[in-house]
Amino acid sequence: MTKKLHIKTYGCQMNVYDSARMADVLAPLGYTIAAAPDDADMVILNTCHIREKAAEKVFSELGRLKSLQSRKARGGGRMILAVAGCVAQAEGAEILARAPYVDIVLGPQTYHRLPEMVAAATRAAGGVLDTEFPVEAKFDFLPAASTAPGVSAFLTIQEGCDKFCTFCVVPYTRGAEFSRPAAEVIAEARRLLDRGAREITLLGQNVNAYHGRGAEGDDWGLGRLIRALAELPGIERIRYTTSHPRDMDAELIAAHRDVPALMPFLHLPVQSGSDRILAAMNRRHTAADYLRTVETLRAARADLALSSDFIVGYPGESDADFQATLDLVATVGFAQAFSFKYSPRPGTPAASAEDQVPEVVKAERLSRLQYLLERQQRAFNESLVGTMQPVLLERAGRHSGQLVGRSPFLQPVHASLPAVLVGAIVPLRITGAEPNSLAGELPAAERVVA
Ligand code: SAH
Ligand code: SF4
Ligand code: F3S
Repeated sequence: MTKKLHIKTYGCQMNVYDSARMADVLAPLGYTIAAAPDDADMVILNTCHIREKAAEKVFSELGRLKSLQSRKARGGGRMILAVAGCVAQAEGAEILARAPYVDIVLGPQTYHRLPEMVAAATRAAGGVLDTEFPVEAKFDFLPAASTAPGVSAFLTIQEGCDKFCTFCVVPYTRGAEFSRPAAEVIAEARRLLDRGAREITLLGQNVNAYHGRGAEGDDWGLGRLIRALAELPGIERIRYTTSHPRDMDAELIAAHRDVPALMPFLHLPVQSGSDRILAAMNRRHTAADYLRTVETLRAARADLALSSDFIVGYPGESDADFQATLDLVATVGFAQAFSFKYSPRPGTPAASAEDQVPEVVKAERLSRLQYLLERQQRAFNESLVGTMQPVLLERAGRHSGQLVGRSPFLQPVHASLPAVLVGAIVPLRITGAEPNSLAGELPAAERVVA
């Protein structure tokens, strides 16, 4: 008997990866993915706790799901409601108290136990809570993927974080840093490639802190792992995210120089350009350290484009501190970036700081920073107009006869091309630049041949 499973994913790519693995774990129980929650037999919210707004969304979504759950019950059915991910980890008991109709609350380290939890929830009246950090690693229990990975696939190689930046919940929700053994990563990459993936994005909350066990019991860094993955038949592109500036070691930078499959785009969050704020954040690097790392990276790979995350209005941030952030942005020149107002998170050191920055100041700084970042992104996109770019075609676009792919710099590229080209890397002439995407076309000569 097939049952419908709807999963709604919030937060980072690691949650996207985890959602796919939860679907895999539940497939043997007869669950197949449903696009909408309306009539589902089970709904999982895979949640994010990184900022207050992200966490709030969960409770409003639960309110909506409650009425679907009651409707299903009136029809004689049952909708199992599960909350997974980082809000579950951080606020497990509170979820069951505020939303007693939730059946299962599970942290990010216990997905492999989902079948047991579903069985327990089916029997039990109250909610089932599992937010342990079990000794057995979840990766040892997760079955091989049941759904096709798509042209571009995610692969989690590292989890957790030991950095304890003072604003951040991740070390508490995801636990201590853990790297999967290299052989396990390579085996999973092979499976993804066999099933049609051409690009693999290696994931970790602190992915370049990767130090997995190698075949001889030796320690592999991310640079070494990337070199090994680049040898696999069928792999065209490799990316990794998210990195910490302190872990950009020489071996990894050399991989950017030597491995053509490693794409020339790097998300390397700096958060602030002020040394005073960086120290208060416990980032353990200065603005000059960051600029030096960027210089070394660009010396290794001249066309490397950079992206970053920024926080404005961290406690105690003065106008001069904020100006230092604008100065750093002007110096580096980012191809893309995410920026956020500081959001106090319960249990983190910065949340109890006395000198919180007023909301209006945060808002004003955010809009000034975003104005600058958007201008840089637009300039970068426009600089590619007229050039040829190899585009990995991923899927059909919104308009008929259109495909969407990615440039080496991760920009979406739209082009009128036949659907058979999905999965191919095609050289396209870039004909237009939008704020968040590019337009491309096959050069005239190749169209005649095609
Ligand atoms: N591991 C990554 C970041 C993961 S969280 C790193 O070290 O850079 C993703 C981004 O969310 C962070 O880079 C930061 O910019 C933002 N963020 C995290 N906690 C935040 C908070 N309390 N308020 C606002 N933004 C936050
Ligand atoms: Fe959070 Fe990243 Fe800092 Fe770890 S390194 S605490 S994930 S911001
Ligand atoms: Fe959010 Fe957890 Fe990822 S807090 S950003 S889902 S690690």
